[in-house]
Amino acid sequence: MAKAPVNVTVTGAAGQIGYALLFRIASGQLLGPDTPVKLRLLEIPQAVKAAEGTAMELEDCAFPLLQGIDITDDLAKAFDGTNVALLVGARPRTKGMERGDLLEANGGIFKPQGRAINDHAADDVRVLVVGNPANTNALIAQANAPDVPAERFTAMTRLDHNRALSQLAGKLQVPVSEIKKMTIWGNHSATQYPDLFHAEVRGEVAAKLVEQEWLRDTFIPTVAKRGAAIIEARGASSAASAANAAIDHVFDWVNGTPEGDWTSAAIPSDGSYGVPEGLISSFPVVSRDGRWEIVQGLEIDEFSREKIDASVAELAEERDAVKQLGLV
Ligand code: NAD
Ligand code: LMR
Repeated sequence: MAKAPVNVTVTGAAGQIGYALLFRIASGQLLGPDTPVKLRLLEIPQAVKAAEGTAMELEDCAFPLLQGIDITDDLAKAFDGTNVALLVGARPRTKGMERGDLLEANGGIFKPQGRAINDHAADDVRVLVVGNPANTNALIAQANAPDVPAERFTAMTRLDHNRALSQLAGKLQVPVSEIKKMTIWGNHSATQYPDLFHAEVRGEVAAKLVEQEWLRDTFIPTVAKRGAAIIEARGASSAASAANAAIDHVFDWVNGTPEGDWTSAAIPSDGSYGVPEGLISSFPVVSRDGRWEIVQGLEIDEFSREKIDASVAELAEERDAVKQLGLV
């Protein structure tokens, strides 16, 4: 029997990530080759026309799995019955804007979106926040959707994870497929901690295969500041790689992670590894039966502890700031 279509909402659909993402969703890469999709594109009124242009192109691809496209600037319509919500549109930091201003501006986006998801989405909704500051935007949306289980709100650190795989593969001259158990801890920001002490290359601990100076002074900052390096080089933030990571995150969430490996995702903390409960922080995770689970029992040495704590402290500061603004 043919599968029922899955409703996928993409916010910021006319933006550059949207352009790299929508065609891959419609071709079946988000959910699998036998799952039809209906797309809902949410944009601000000024960008609806551009989203309509993208929709014309989607039609012109004649994707067999694409069963419809709705374009709207109305939150209730955008999230009506949605099963997968990719929250990409966000307010970028502009000149002279302080971090607090940025959090406030994004609160104006993610608070009403959280409420609309609460009121209109399907019972099985899964939310991935890509728009920055992703972890705290996810927290705002989650806090404003009290009827949706908190675990359904996640933020994207899969791009950082993929960057870490690629940097290590380049250093050791091995294919990325030989690297398992990479972890990004903490915030999707320059404080994130890419961890090589649990990563394995052909079964050996990755941290033992590289010089400690390289790990500390090259690997960690290269991964953590890669987003800024791309903005510097391209004059715009990463788009195709961000879309690719969003596809990876949702595909694994829905279809499960491979045995013997794990990935990284920012999910609400249950208190594991000393991360305060409720913070949306990146962890080593597996997906089983459509749910993320934090990998348990990893030993955390002093070096890693310090790095994880620093990133988690930044997340706690962001949470306190949005609390003060009445956003959570
Ligand atoms: P972009 O500026 O090209 O597009 C953003 C789109 O969002 C625009 O079309 C804009 O009209 C729309 N938008 C703004 N407010 C909206 C709202 N309230 N509702 C619906 N749509 C709205 O930006 P982009 O390059 O596509 O990046 C989007 C976001 O993703 C940025 O915040 C960026 O920093 C972030 N990002 C995150 C990661 C990650 O790894 N988590 C990686 C790359 C980029
Ligand atoms: C990235 O990691 O590429 C982005 O989050 C950078 C940004 O600020 O948009």
